[in-house]
Amino acid sequence: MEVVCKQTREGVAQAAASRIAAVVASKPRAVLGLATGSSPSLIYAELASWVATGRLDMAEVSAFALSEYVGLPPGHPRSYAYEIGQVVTKALGLDPVHVHVPDGFAVNVENAAERYEQNLAAAGGIDTQLLGIGTNGHIGFNEPTSSLASRTRIKTLSPTTRSDNARFFTAPEEVPTHCITQGIGTILEARQLLLVAQGSSKSAAVAAAVEGPVSSMCPASALQLHPHATVIIDEAAAAELTLLDYYRHVYDNKPS
Ligand code: F6R
Repeated sequence: MEVVCKQTREGVAQAAASRIAAVVASKPRAVLGLATGSSPSLIYAELASWVATGRLDMAEVSAFALSEYVGLPPGHPRSYAYEIGQVVTKALGLDPVHVHVPDGFAVNVENAAERYEQNLAAAGGIDTQLLGIGTNGHIGFNEPTSSLASRTRIKTLSPTTRSDNARFFTAPEEVPTHCITQGIGTILEARQLLLVAQGSSKSAAVAAAVEGPVSSMCPASALQLHPHATVIIDEAAAAELTLLDYYRHVYDNKPS
């Protein structure tokens, strides 16, 4: 996998946004997979500024959010549907008809997961999937021990994830207990994976994902199985990588 280390969070955002913009420039009807939470927020802001200044047109792009909490009603400000609506659909000028978020408020969440997979297949699969990583190594909300072949489904959030995400809610007990998330098998079908991580709280998970064994104990290690996976991280998130100098050498001497 390609590892790109930038000095700052802003550097991570610019590098990731540039790659997404390049995909959209070469394929205006690109299908993007979207992460939510704090990791991608500067990337979306960077893309939004390029759209606002006419440097990028995303009007024909389709998008699939990775996950959604179960039980939050439509329009709930902490739902990922709301977040994607604000920071992606509106800010990047996407057509809401082409933006898909798993339906965590469906009467039958299993059926909603199946519908999501059907929509994904009908769109032709994902060109570029943006990913964050949990402090426990999750991608999407595939918590440790998730099957590496899993599909979109309902999952129980781990205590670590609920505690990490409590910062987005007014009280820790308000964090939903379940979510609907793309599976690891679903994620691995994207044609390109782009994982971003910033800050020291992610350094152990990044090291396990990039340099550890492929294991369901670190779901992000499944990226090692993908032929086109890039990890873009800042210095703090890179701190526990033992081969960092080598990744820098490879990056600086990329064949043209
Ligand atoms: C949410 C998702 C999660 C987050 C991860 C990191 O859609 O995919 O895997 O990317 O929990 O969250 P932040 O970025 O808030 O640290």
